[in-house]
Amino acid sequence: MINVTKTYLPNKEKYKQYVDEIYTNGWVTNNGPLVQKLEKRLAEYLGVKNIVLVSNGTVALEIAYRTLGLKGFVVTTPFSFVATTSSLVTNGILPIFADIDPKTLNIDPHCIEQAITPNTSAILSVHVFGNACDVESIGAIAKQHDLKVVYDAAHAFDVEHKGQSVLNYGDISTLSFHATKLFHSIEGGALIINDDALVEKARYLINFGIKNAEEIPHLGTNAKMNEFEAAMGLCVLDDIEEIQSARKKVYELYTNELCGYVQFQEQNPDATQNYSYFPVVFESEEQLQKVQKALNEQDIFPRRYFYPSLDTLSYIEPKQQCSISREISKRILCLPMYADLLRDDQLRIITILKGAL
Ligand SMILES: Cc1ncc(COP(=O)(O)O)c(C=O)c1O
Repeated sequence: MINVTKTYLPNKEKYKQYVDEIYTNGWVTNNGPLVQKLEKRLAEYLGVKNIVLVSNGTVALEIAYRTLGLKGFVVTTPFSFVATTSSLVTNGILPIFADIDPKTLNIDPHCIEQAITPNTSAILSVHVFGNACDVESIGAIAKQHDLKVVYDAAHAFDVEHKGQSVLNYGDISTLSFHATKLFHSIEGGALIINDDALVEKARYLINFGIKNAEEIPHLGTNAKMNEFEAAMGLCVLDDIEEIQSARKKVYELYTNELCGYVQFQEQNPDATQNYSYFPVVFESEEQLQKVQKALNEQDIFPRRYFYPSLDTLSYIEPKQQCSISREISKRILCLPMYADLLRDDQLRIITILKGAL
């Protein structure tokens, strides 16, 4: 069976050495030495100032909203994984959807401007499939309207924009280190926080709001990463360059072979790519279904990312409509994409897809 993605498992002996270390010192969670080590290494590797590790990418978003004190309305994209929107709703914030650019698949800055009201406290944008947003326009709009900016950078590990990490834009960027991601720690996530003064607050928030044995200044939660997850992260980080170059090969073969058959995502020319996904847009939903059926019959399972468009979620009131996002979400499929996808298997996927078209 070939799935849309496959978890990268690093060398078992190396992981076992970390497990031995954990057993020796008996420290399994609560900001242990491996979490601290991973934070340090990731900050250096990614070129960011402050990084706070957490238990997953969804709580990273929630902690970001609470750290910045977001309330009221937040302008966001309807074309993302459901956690981008549901994390707002569970924190009592109303998502106001701004439609996307049909080529880049990212939020359209013109639509952001139209969606801003006096109740808007922030813009929550996503670097969809690792394609950097128009960070400069978003920054300018935020400045003009005095809004905070959060980037859901769950897909944007190791992406640079104009020579620096894309994670440095906005007030806070969040990452997901779920097992399916380019870089992972089994489950996990992170916040990249630009304002040094807010880092301490985020650290309290991930630990029940506790400052010390006698003070609990904030309403917090439990969002801590544990030592076994950090150990996995450290092992995967050692191999990240290898992982990326293997993925690049997969990406290039798809690009060369499928050019002219399907529409590709238009990449930000000022940014690097991390080869984390391979989305293809078909002419119609019928065409997509035909391809999906043909692949499924051969035990190959691409995913309809992102479907449905989040402006159709039943729990969002009042109802909103983003026609471009709805249209694209019906016609987009992410093809299998991972470091050890065999060339023969990939060629088989390509042949089946072309045949179905
Ligand atoms: C864009 C986006 N945001 C948020 C998340 C949530 O991350 P996690 O699964 O680590 O909670 C994901 C996860 O896949 C995602 O793709």
